[in-house]
Amino acid sequence: GAEVAGLVHALLRDVPDFPQPGIVFKDIAPLLADGAAFGAAMAALATFAAGVDAVDVVAGVEARGFVVAGALAHRLGCGLVPVRKAGKLPPPTIRRGYELEYGTAEIEVPVGLLSGKRVLLVDDVLATGGTMLAAAGLIAEAGGTVTGLAVLLELGFLNGRERLGTAAPVHALLRI
Ligand code: PRP
Ligand code: MG
Repeated sequence: GAEVAGLVHALLRDVPDFPQPGIVFKDIAPLLADGAAFGAAMAALATFAAGVDAVDVVAGVEARGFVVAGALAHRLGCGLVPVRKAGKLPPPTIRRGYELEYGTAEIEVPVGLLSGKRVLLVDDVLATGGTMLAAAGLIAEAGGTVTGLAVLLELGFLNGRERLGTAAPVHALLRI
């Protein structure tokens, strides 16, 4: 708990005015670059995953979420389903638009890989919650059930968790 949170905190780099003026970018690259810290983070997320209802597949959100989802799925022995930026996945897909802290975007999931699956939805950062909300909506629309949501970092002051309003447990290794 606290130990992993401290690791994430220590290895998080704040980058002011990136990618736009007024935005403080939370760079997780130093955490991923540290083998022991990356391993500890994945172990902590695996412990969370073991406590949720059940997980058939991990869904990771492009791009930074892929890194977390891939490592975690492998560790759990689960499959992985990509949630991608629109236009990258071959059809058939379903698509949803959402608002980011900076700008708007669209994401897609493959149709067919999520039906009847219990899904752990994973990303690097929970900020406004727009990305996770859209991803969770797509997973449900595709016939999957989100049984848990997990991130490395939650920006609590943006109230993403409240916006998600999900019944499934939401876990962040560090909440700031
Ligand atoms: C970032 C971050 C999360 C999302 C969180 O992704 O990786 O996916 O924003 O923001 P939200 O909770 O306000 O939706 P982004 O699309 O900026 O970039 P990426 O492709 O590098 O992951
Ligand atoms: Mg992202």
